[in-house]
Parts: sequence; C-alpha cells; structure tokens
Amino acid sequence: MEYQALFLKINNSLKGFQDSGQVANYIPELAKVDANKFGVHLTTIDHKQAGFGDDNEKFSIQSIAKVLALTLAYTFEDEILFKRVGVEPSGTPFNSLYLLETDQGIPRNPLINAGAIVVCDVLMSHLKNPKADFLKFVQTVSGNSAISYCERIVTSEKSCGYRNMALVNLMKTFGNIKNKIDDVMDFYFNLCSIQMTCNELSKTFLFLANDGFCPVSNKVILSPSKSKRINSVMQSCGFYDEAGEFSFKVGLPGKSGVGGGIVAVHPGKYSIAVWSPKLNKKGNSNKGIAFLERFTTETDTSIF
Ligand code: DON
Repeated sequence: MEYQALFLKINNSLKGFQDSGQVANYIPELAKVDANKFGVHLTTIDHKQAGFGDDNEKFSIQSIAKVLALTLAYTFEDEILFKRVGVEPSGTPFNSLYLLETDQGIPRNPLINAGAIVVCDVLMSHLKNPKADFLKFVQTVSGNSAISYCERIVTSEKSCGYRNMALVNLMKTFGNIKNKIDDVMDFYFNLCSIQMTCNELSKTFLFLANDGFCPVSNKVILSPSKSKRINSVMQSCGFYDEAGEFSFKVGLPGKSGVGGGIVAVHPGKYSIAVWSPKLNKKGNSNKGIAFLERFTTETDTSIF
C-alpha cells in the first residue's frame, strides 16, 4: 500500500469539504491556533511510516492524554480501578455535570473530563512526583524524551476551568476524590497540555495496536487483555456523545482532543494520528473524522 499517495488523494478529495467547525475557543490559548493546519501520520506495527501535511508540527493533545493516564492507572490498580469510574458511554458532552449527581460521583467512563479527573486522583495516590513520573511514562511509551507539558496552556486552562472545578468539587462531596482538589486539577491540566506532533502521537499509541507491547521502546506497557480493554473503552467512549457516529463512520477505536487531534488504532495493524483544529459541536475534529472515514474505507481497514 502506497500510503503517501493515498493521503494526498484523500486530502484532494476533501478540498470541497465545507468545514463549518470552529477552533476551540473556551481555552484562550487554543483559540490562537491556525485553523487551517492539517497533518496526518501513520505508523504500522511492522515499522512502515507515512506522513502528510503538518505532521511534524506540535499541537496540544488535550483529552487524548486521558488514554495514557488510564493506561498507567490500570497497571497500578487492575480491575479495582473500575469501582471508581465506569466503562459505559455517557451520551453526554465531555464536560457535562449532568449524570454525576444521579450516579453518586462515579463518572460513566475514564475519557470524559470527570472520569479523567478521577484517574488523575488515582495516579496521584500511586506516584511520588505525579507530574514528573507521568511525563516519564509518556516519554517511555513514545520513545521520545523530548515530549513535554506546555505551561502556557496550563495557565490558560486554569484561568477558565470553572466546569472542571465544578466536576471535581461535586465528586469530592461523594468521596470519589482522595487528594487535594487543587493538586489533582494541577495534574489534570498539565496532562491535557502535553504537546505532540501527529508523527509522535501515532508512535505513542502503537502499543495499543500491538497487544500492549511498545515496539518503540521494546517494553511491555500493558498485558494483551488490558490493551484490548483500553481499545474497547476508546471504541465506546472516545468521542463522547459522538462515539457511536465515529464507530459507524470510521470503525476504529480512537480518541479525540479539543486541540483538533484524533488518534485511532487498528489492533494488529497500525496507529494513525490526524490533526485539524476546527471542531464540530461535539468537540471533535471535523476534517479529522472525514479524513479517517475515507482512510478506513479506501484501505478496507475498519475493524468491523
Ligand atoms: O478539560 C478540558 O476541557 C480540556 N482540557 C480537555 C477536553 C477535551 O480535549 C475534549 N475532547 N475533545
């Protein structure tokens, strides 16, 4: 398969694509990003690579980092983790407070904001230096010691993180947050601020295409069973109230972020990352989804 030529062909076919999306504007720093950026990068488990466009430019991976936090928390807690956070799609927006009240402070899944905040709390109870230790983990999985947080984004998110603060406070009243709220949120905002290129992102998620074994660092990150389960959570919850639609159109487990990134995994084959900052109303990259839909159609690689 000549992936480079295919990327060009799909991109050309999207030239007339009416992107009515908007760059995330509820985080001031993200609103400054050039809306017309576009990058895609594919890495296969048999070491093939292909990139197109701005695939070597850093962007804020935002919620995509929730999958890496979940991965590390799962290695510490095993199935006990899922007493504090569920694995059901929420059918609500990523920052919704709605279900938390009736669900007694137990988030529906680890990929909505509430769930990721609980996962951060869990990690804080296991890690000596949560921010430094987590970053080290991400660097290991990505095989790249230059991956870092972005202080500018952290400060920007803190300046307007009212909903996230509401979520953590509500969960604290139900006893589902054990550490100090400000420490948990500092960790959460840092996690969301991680910057990567599409190239780096596709490599970072390769372990989920490879039964939990990371071919970049030659390390076991997760058991095959846990790797399968993380993919299953991405499949059903990775796009919030658009998870069904992503599954329907693209047919791969994946995760989006409000920075406009999407990473999708084909277990046994590849990991692919796209970046296009204009988001639809559900907070997911418009062109990113359209591109991936065409990619899995052209390559006949939906998992279904
Ligand atoms: O907490 C937030 O709202 C953001 N840091 C992350 C949200 C996000 O990326 C949702 N994804 N599409």
